[in-house]
Order: sequence, then C-alpha cells, then structure tokens
Amino acid sequence: MTPLLEVRHLQVEFPSRRGTLRALDDVSFTIAAGEVLGVVGESGAGKSLTGASIIGLLEPPGRIASGEILLDGKRIDNLPPEAMRRVRGRQIGAVFQDPLTSLNPLYTVGRQIAETIVTHLDLSWAQARERAVELLAATGIPAARERIDHYPHQFSGGMRQRVVIALALAAEPKLVVADEPTTALDVSIQAQIIELLKRLCREQGTAVMLITHDMGVIAETADRVAVMYAGRVAEIGPVADVIHRPAHPYTRGLMGSIPSLEAHAERLVQIDGSMPRLTAIPPGCAFNPRCPQRMERCTRERPELLPAGASRAACWLHDMHQEAA
Ligand SMILES: Nc1ncnc2c1ncn2[C@@H]1O[C@H](COP(=O)(O)OP(=O)(O)OP(=O)(O)O)[C@@H](O)[C@H]1O
Ligand code: SF4
Ligand SMILES: [Mg+2]
Repeated sequence: MTPLLEVRHLQVEFPSRRGTLRALDDVSFTIAAGEVLGVVGESGAGKSLTGASIIGLLEPPGRIASGEILLDGKRIDNLPPEAMRRVRGRQIGAVFQDPLTSLNPLYTVGRQIAETIVTHLDLSWAQARERAVELLAATGIPAARERIDHYPHQFSGGMRQRVVIALALAAEPKLVVADEPTTALDVSIQAQIIELLKRLCREQGTAVMLITHDMGVIAETADRVAVMYAGRVAEIGPVADVIHRPAHPYTRGLMGSIPSLEAHAERLVQIDGSMPRLTAIPPGCAFNPRCPQRMERCTRERPELLPAGASRAACWLHDMHQEAA
C-alpha cells in the first residue's frame, strides 16, 4: 500500500563559504493516511528543516541536495513553485509556532480563510464564507459569525492559533505539518489547542506530522514517533514502544530526561554532553561520543535504521547479523 507521505533518503544542505553544511542526512520515514506522526529531538536536530522540506518552504540557501518526497506516490520535492503552492494549502496544510507567520495582518481572518477555500475548492465566495464561519466555530471561536470580519491582531494568541488551524484545514488537506504549534502560547491553553488539532484532523481523516519538544503531547496524540538526532532519524516506531521500550540509547536518555513520564520509575541515567554542531558530526554513529554502549564499530560505521522490536533504530546494538556472526 502506498503511504500518504514518503520521505526517502532526504539530504538538506546549506552552502557556506567554509564548505557545505549537511543539516539533514539520509532522513527516511513514512506517514499513513490519517496517522499522527510525532517528531521529537533536541534543538537543532533537524525537525523544522524536515517539515519545511515537505511543505516546500525550505529557505534558501538551504536546499534539498538529494532524496525524494512523495505524496500519494507522486514526487513533490521537485515541483515548480506554482505547482507546489497548489499542493500547499490543498493537500498539505501548515501550522507554525507563531500564528502571525501564517496570517496576513492586512486582511480579515474570514477573507483569508474564504480565499483559501475558493482557490482550492469549487465553491462560490458566499459558500466559502459560510464554510469559513463553520470552520471558525468548529475551532471553538465564540461568535464566529461576527469574529470572521475581525483582523488577526484583534485575537489573542490562542484564538489566533485556532484561526490558523481553521486556515490550515480549510481546503481539507490530507496532511497537516504542525511545527511546535503551541510553544509560543500560554501553558494553560496549550493542551486545548493540541486537543483541537487532534480532533479536527481525526474528523477529517487528515494525517499530522506533529513536531514538538513535549513528550507528554506525543504520548497522548501520536500513533508513531520519530526521534531525530544530528540531522538523522535515530529511532522510529509505535508511540508506546518508543516511550516504554526505547531501542536507541539516545531515545533512552531522552525519555529519562522527562520527569513527568518517569516520575515513579527509577530515573534513567542522563546523557552527558550535547548534540554535535553540523560542522563536527563524528564519523560512524553520530551519537557515539555520548553513548554509554558505544562499541569499536560505532566510531567507524554509520548504522542504518535496523529492525528493533516493533520499532526501527539506527544503532548497531540491533544488528542481528552481527550477533549471529
Ligand atoms: N539558514 C541556515 N544556515 C545554516 N544552518 C542552518 C540554517 N537553518 C538551519 N540550520 C541548521 O540546521 C540544523 C537543523 O535545524 P532545525 O531548525 O531543523 O532544528 P530543529 O530540530 O527544528 O530545532 P528546534 O527544536 O530548535 O526548533 C541546525 O543545526 C541549524 O543550525
Ligand atoms: S550505534 Fe553504537 S554509539 Fe550509536 S547508539 Fe548504537 S551503541 Fe551507541
Ligand atoms: Mg524547529
């Protein structure tokens, strides 16, 4: 079965005067229709670049150096800008950390949502406006029929992010890429916004790529989770497995640093050190300088994603071939 989204061996590079920086190196994963994939990892791991590559909003000089991105089996990484604009909005919606990056301050929210609807769906302006009211109401904006004629600055941060979610879902896309959608918001409303995103996407059958630092959100929202480290996928698998039976030593450390999840369990050993800069990624396994289970081989050979229980992990500890030998 063709996955909804397939990212294959994605490499993203930034040319610089001191040589080319490879920010994403051989990132591969899939998202099924209607599935929620959580993406986690330390700051700088490459989460946002992965999302930006999928929605075609990688900022120059960043560029896709190799690999492919397929939506419904068709490549979208090499589309001309106009064709990609049509994919974005109609087939892929986006929600960013700051709602104001998605909204034009000069137009009412209703006009922006209705415009997206008429651009992508076969509806009249009057029908689009009506649908915009319904969408705003569905996102929990009180008095949606009046609020539709208000400008973005007339909404609070949380309400604005609800508007952005309405906008992202306006053309009934198959996938929404949400990059830290609640990080900029008041803690008290973060859970509501995630709950809203999850509910609306489930109702529409929309898949979600949810980038977040919040493992609690992942645990409650995602079907599967991808753990990124130094521009690579370290581990990917069903959310319960990755959280409770992490296969990669880095994931184990990451889980150990989340007190709320492990509050009553033995606190796991914290990982010393920090993620390497792009200019200093060590050969072999990128995690090897910090890894308590490092073997000789880890400093020489780079591990591919290998089957590890229900998940896959880029770690030589899961090389069955090696064990048998
Ligand atoms: N314009 C740029 N030029 C050079 N390097 C860049 C540029 N943009 C991003 N990078 C590098 O690419 C890497 C991945 O960045 P990315 O924004 O995807 O990380 P992230 O996982 O989203 O982190 P965060 O959790 O902080 O949002 C980082 O090391 C970053 O320094
Ligand atoms: S490949 Fe080696 S260094 Fe990397 S995580 Fe696995 S055991 Fe640790
Ligand atoms: Mg980011």
